[in-house]
Amino acid sequence: MRSGPLTGRIRVPGDKSISHRSLMFGALATGATRISGLLEAGDVLGTAEILKALGASIARQADGSWLVHGRGVGGLTQPQSDLDFGNSGTGTRLMLGVLAGHGFLARLTGDASLSRRPMGRVLKPLKQMGLEVVEGDKLTLPITVRGRSRPIPITYTLDVPSAQVKSAVLLCGLHAPGETTVIEHEATRDHTERMLKHFGADIRVTETKGGRAITVQGDAELKGRDVVVPADPSSAAFLIAAGAMVPGSDVTVEGVLINPTRTGFYIILKEMGADITFLNERVEGGEPIADIRVKGSNLHGVRVPPERAPSMIDEYPVLAVLAATATGRTRMEGLAELRAKESDRLAATAAGLTANGVVARVEGDTLEVEGRTGIPGGGRVETHMDHRIAMAFLVLGLVVQRPVIVDDISIVDTSFPQFGTLMTSLGANLRAAA
Ligand code: S3P
Repeated sequence: MRSGPLTGRIRVPGDKSISHRSLMFGALATGATRISGLLEAGDVLGTAEILKALGASIARQADGSWLVHGRGVGGLTQPQSDLDFGNSGTGTRLMLGVLAGHGFLARLTGDASLSRRPMGRVLKPLKQMGLEVVEGDKLTLPITVRGRSRPIPITYTLDVPSAQVKSAVLLCGLHAPGETTVIEHEATRDHTERMLKHFGADIRVTETKGGRAITVQGDAELKGRDVVVPADPSSAAFLIAAGAMVPGSDVTVEGVLINPTRTGFYIILKEMGADITFLNERVEGGEPIADIRVKGSNLHGVRVPPERAPSMIDEYPVLAVLAATATGRTRMEGLAELRAKESDRLAATAAGLTANGVVARVEGDTLEVEGRTGIPGGGRVETHMDHRIAMAFLVLGLVVQRPVIVDDISIVDTSFPQFGTLMTSLGANLRAAA
């Protein structure tokens, strides 16, 4: 609901991408991996359960860190029951890469949202590496797969700019004899490359005419390591957006990951005229981080070019909400991948804005939003089991005339269970609808 200025200094939970990877790489390493700042949210805790079902030992410690005792590359064991990935596309796609390097059967399931999402993009290269799809329509969950303990090393050029597909191929490549290479035309998030190196894998990145080539040496041995998970820039984006659009606000989010493959949203925010600064820039656990401060700002519409998409792919719903409060039109191009997320985010974002009196158009892969003052609100937003749609429209509620109603906020727990508490601590007016 409409709120006064938001003020305060807060910390948001650990990065989801890095959290998933730290558990998986720990499970594939020998020895102990200690993770501090792990995101304790549905998607990541689901990955921990799955790795336990595959034989890794994972436990939360009294000090809040997590301790993983891995089985070594290729050392996981056949699960006794289905692997339920819940809502998590990252968990599923990365683990398909891991499973492709183990010679046993596994059946993968997920919730209604995940069961609609495309798996062909990751199965295509993994089948070239020897993964067999034993049961299922081969494009969506549920599927049963059988990997190989000696997969075939390949060179694969990504046909969608997806860090998930890149990571799946590299993870399978760890088990292969020889070198596995992934070539990407557009840089996607590089946490897998950084963290595999940290765990001792032989991995190198070269710029080629065909794009950026990432090569991992097979027959790898990973060694357990300490991992510090920085705060998630995709979660921070909701609070920063809220601070930028509510007049008089002054919000600082501490220790946020500012890896250049993840900061597109913050760059665009600056281009829209936001008063936003990165303070106290430093490196923690091999990743650059900063405290991000934003003040209530007069924003103007911008064109967001397609090449920005991979570095802010999860931030478009909240950017579109922000654009609704800016002066003029914001045009976001090259958003085909938004249709393959937890929901069709192009359609869900446009529908939520329209329901609240904002003019929003989808034309092909472009989303256009007409900014306005005095947004009426009063609309009901369907989240379609998508946490980021839920949070984006709760943020819209801060500046509208009549409350925005979000149909299901429970899904927020998959990535950011503290969202409501943190928003309220800054002064936001959120409440459960009667
Ligand atoms: C992720 C990559 C992105 C992103 C997702 C997390 C990852 O998906 O949307 O939330 O951890 O690798 P794609 O790489 O498929 O675009």
